[in-house]
Amino acid sequence: MALRNIREMGDPVLNKVCKEVKEVTPRTRELIQDMVETMYEANGVGLAAPQVGILKRIVVIDCTGEDLLVMINPKIIETSGEQTGGEGCLSVPGKSGTVTRPNYVKAIAYDENMQLYEIEGTELLARAICHELDHLDGHLYVEKVEGELVNVSEEEDYEDFEDWDE
Ligand code: NI
Repeated sequence: MALRNIREMGDPVLNKVCKEVKEVTPRTRELIQDMVETMYEANGVGLAAPQVGILKRIVVIDCTGEDLLVMINPKIIETSGEQTGGEGCLSVPGKSGTVTRPNYVKAIAYDENMQLYEIEGTELLARAICHELDHLDGHLYVEKVEGELVNVSEEEDYEDFEDWDE
């Protein structure tokens, strides 16, 4: 396992559409392990493969520090409601902005064994799923920010939406 460099806004890799994963190879598993390690090291609640320079449809999310979610080829199949709150991104360090997202999300994804599963999330998890899946299509939350991006202190954790919820 190894930490990987997190790409920052302005890096063209963050604006590309990622490719579907056809099979989980040892390299894919290594990538996922590295993404998990990199996310935890950065105190993030989520990380998408393009953020470490890999154009594959893989995200990892952990909103609580004890519920790691590995999502391969994820798709949102249902949303409802609305939440408006603060959001940040490890690829946009030092910034935060207000984004409106669905308050409920149902998604399907494959796990590391390519088993299809369904996940439902509300509030922070719903927000994280939307945010990370946007990365897979080359979108950053800054495109959706209402008002201005604001500066946050360096001590705050990036991609840690919870701290910034209103
Ligand atoms: Ni992000």
